[in-house]
Amino acid sequence: MEESTNHLIHRLLWRKRPLGMWWLLVSLLFLGFIMARPRNSQPYCFTNDTDRYHQFATKTPYNYSRGHFSSLDLVPDGCVAVQAWHLIRHGTRYPDKDDTEHFVLELPGMQTSVLKAHEKGQGELCEGDLSLLSGWSLGIINTSWASILAPEGELEMEGLASRYKVALPSLFDQQFSNDSFKFRHTASQRTKASATAYSKGLFDDASIYIPPALDPDPLLKFYDMCEKYKVEVEDNPAARREGHLFWEGPEVGKVSCCMMRVAFTRRGSQHNLPLGVFAFTPHDLQVLEYYYDLEEYYTAGFGHNINTAMACPPLQDVYQHFSNAVWRGQGPRGIFYFTHSKAVISVMSRLGLYRDRAPLTHRHMNPRRLWRTSQHGSFATNLAFTLSICNQNRWWVSVATSEQMAALEGCEGPRGCSWEEFTQLLSGSQHCDLDVICAVTPSGSGSPAEGKGWEGMPMQILLSILLASDMFL
Ligand SMILES: *[C@@H]1O[C@H](CO)[C@@H](O)[C@H](O)[C@H]1NC(C)=O
Ligand SMILES: *[C@@H]1O[C@H](CO)[C@@H](O)[C@H](O)[C@H]1NC(C)=O
Ligand SMILES: *[C@@H]1O[C@H](CO)[C@@H](O)[C@H](O)[C@H]1NC(C)=O
Repeated sequence: MEESTNHLIHRLLWRKRPLGMWWLLVSLLFLGFIMARPRNSQPYCFTNDTDRYHQFATKTPYNYSRGHFSSLDLVPDGCVAVQAWHLIRHGTRYPDKDDTEHFVLELPGMQTSVLKAHEKGQGELCEGDLSLLSGWSLGIINTSWASILAPEGELEMEGLASRYKVALPSLFDQQFSNDSFKFRHTASQRTKASATAYSKGLFDDASIYIPPALDPDPLLKFYDMCEKYKVEVEDNPAARREGHLFWEGPEVGKVSCCMMRVAFTRRGSQHNLPLGVFAFTPHDLQVLEYYYDLEEYYTAGFGHNINTAMACPPLQDVYQHFSNAVWRGQGPRGIFYFTHSKAVISVMSRLGLYRDRAPLTHRHMNPRRLWRTSQHGSFATNLAFTLSICNQNRWWVSVATSEQMAALEGCEGPRGCSWEEFTQLLSGSQHCDLDVICAVTPSGSGSPAEGKGWEGMPMQILLSILLASDMFL
């Protein structure tokens, strides 16, 4: 294979983070444009689809995953809210720099190829999709926006905060002060801008004082300070074996079976490289969604013990704040933390949320699984604990994930926990020493990559990886 392609494949496969997923969003534009369905089957027509599939794993916009805060759910009858603690993933962001560069480099050429192929009678595009495709342009993407919070993300944060405020007027209906409200975000534009947009929704003021980020941050980015996690999961390809096997398996194979070969000249190369293009039907998207669910399950969820073991700092923090309020009547009214998907997902997992009876594997794409990152790992996904004082000096903690009430293992109520249950539930998080939890044991960990090498992968799959990660992202 020619050098530039080799280089690209190498870079894609070996970059540390999971393959990007932006193609899922951009594929909204492309869905159905690019047709190569087998003859005699009715081609999928995106334009005519009135119920489009919006479950893009961790790249799902918040509107498709959220519920709606309700006062009575958060604060039972006869109780008064005292303190709120809210852990939030940043809102919808633009693609990162790599992905954006690939969009700019590849997508326009791909658009031309598909249109040309269509003229030659290859593939099947319905009229509506054809005109969508010819009218499409990349004008909206700019490298200087890489990874920054998108306007949609700002609206998500503002909306989230304003609904929380409407549900908790006694707590939030007042002016900002440093003592009453605590904001913290990680060292990145998207979490900082999320904090600002949230404050706009809460106080109608986007200029409140938000302290500078800590870097590194042991509370909001504990996973960056955990050597054991790095060695056993992040830098260990074997930890993501199920995802790799699924990617190589028949389901994903079918997604790319419908590729058609279009002569396509890659920029900067003298050779013509046959590249396939494919159409994503809703079923295709479910298959790809499952692949990304597997990835998250093994890098942030129940797939490996260290994922949940290291996620104690935020739970230690909420317990300390709440007990300060319960025992000493002290502390702010609201604590708001802005972080990333890995932090929110691993904390939810540590609480036992969205745990299926059987582990997720490449063998069975269970359509009724609880683990769905399109739901609990979407942009702006969040975990809200609200502490209330009730009759007879009893305390209550309600639990909501993305504005839907959640039942926790160990708590009887469908919407939260008594103080005693809450204390019991979080007792294991009170001894949260990352130095101990994250110490690397010399043997039995960090086994080198096993499993099939990428060399054995069929050409077609390699091409679809290229397409999926480069072109559509
Ligand atoms: C899409 O809808 C248009 C207008 O209703 C119809 O003429 C066309 O046949 C439909 N195309 C497909 C592929 O379903
Ligand atoms: C979500 O949906 C609502 C109504 O369906 C819409 O007004 C809003 O702009 C959408 N986006 C956000 C970020 O709320
Ligand atoms: C909050 O604290 C910061 C830093 O100490 C200070 O600059 C700011 O004026 C304070 N804001 C309010 C509303 O007290």
